[in-house]
Amino acid sequence: MAVLRTAIQDSHEKLDAAGIPDARLEAEVLVMNVMRMARQNIFAEQETEVAPEQQAALDELVQRRLTREPLAYILGYREFYGINVRVNPNVLIPRPETEGLVEHALFMALMGMESRELTIADVGTGTGAIAINLALHLPAARVFAVDVADQVLDVAAFNIRNHGVADRVKLGIGDLLDAVPEPVDLIVANLPYIPSDRISTLQPEVQQEPVLALDGGADGLDLIRRLLDQAEEKLKENGIILLEMDPDQIPVVQELAMEHFPEGATEVQQDLAHMDRILVIHRQNPY
Ligand SMILES: C[S@@+](CC[C@H](N)C(=O)[O-])C[C@H]1O[C@@H](n2cnc3c(N)ncnc32)[C@H](O)[C@@H]1O
Repeated sequence: MAVLRTAIQDSHEKLDAAGIPDARLEAEVLVMNVMRMARQNIFAEQETEVAPEQQAALDELVQRRLTREPLAYILGYREFYGINVRVNPNVLIPRPETEGLVEHALFMALMGMESRELTIADVGTGTGAIAINLALHLPAARVFAVDVADQVLDVAAFNIRNHGVADRVKLGIGDLLDAVPEPVDLIVANLPYIPSDRISTLQPEVQQEPVLALDGGADGLDLIRRLLDQAEEKLKENGIILLEMDPDQIPVVQELAMEHFPEGATEVQQDLAHMDRILVIHRQNPY
C-alpha cells in the first residue's frame, strides 16, 4: 500500500512527464483533496497509509489533469480575492489579474464617488467573483451581475447565495448592459477580449474554458465596443467604467472612450506583472 510520500511523488512524476507546469504543487493539492488533509498535515504525516479507494480516487484526478483539464475544474473551486468561488466548465476560472479590477473598483468606489450607496454593474459576471467581492467590501452598494447564458448564471447564483450577498447582488440575463435595469454609478467588466484567431494558440487548459468567455471577435474588442455604445444610456452623469483588456488594446479603447464621452478622462492601471491591464473611464473629467 502506498503512503502519502510515495503518492505525492508518483503523482508529481506523472504530471511532470506530461509537461504540466507546477507539477509538484499540483500533485500536493490533488493529494490534499483526496485525503481531505490540510497542507501542513500532508508534510507532517508522510508515512500515513493511503487506502486503496483513496489511491483510486487520486489516480482518477491525476488522469483528468493529464488530459489538461484545468486544476480548478477538477477541484470545483478557485480562490479569488480571498474567497472561494465554485467553478465548472461553463464558466471562466477567475484570474489573479482580475483581482486588480476588484482592487481598483473598490478604490474608485471608496475614494472617487460622491455617494456610498452606489449602484454597480458587473457585466459578464461568470462565477460572480467580481460582483460578490464588491458587495462584500461595499456594504451599502447594490450590484447588478449580468451574463448572457443560463448555465453561467446558475454558477453565479450558487456563489452569490453561498457568500450571503443575494439581497444586494441581483442577477440578470441578456446582452451586456441590456440586462441592467437602471443607470449605474460604476460599470466593471472583464469581457472576452481575445482575438478569435488566437484562441487555438492558447494553452490547452485555457482551450477547455468556454469560448463564450474568451472570444472577443476579430480584434478582441467586439464586446467592449458594444458595451461603450450601451454605456451612454446606462452610466450615470459622474459614472466610471473599469475594463480589463490586453495591454495593446488599451490605446484603441482609450480613443473609443473619448469619442463616446468627450467630456471624460481615462487612466491606465497595471496588473501584478506591471502590464497595462485596466482602463478606467470617467464620464466627466474629475481633474
Ligand atoms: C472573461 S469572462 C469573465 C468572467 C468573470 N467576470 C471573471 O472575471 O472571472 C467573460 C464573461 O462574459 C460573458 N459574456 C460573453 N458575451 C456576453 C454578452 N454579450 N453579454 C453579457 N455577458 C457576456 C461570458 O459568458 C463570460 O462569463
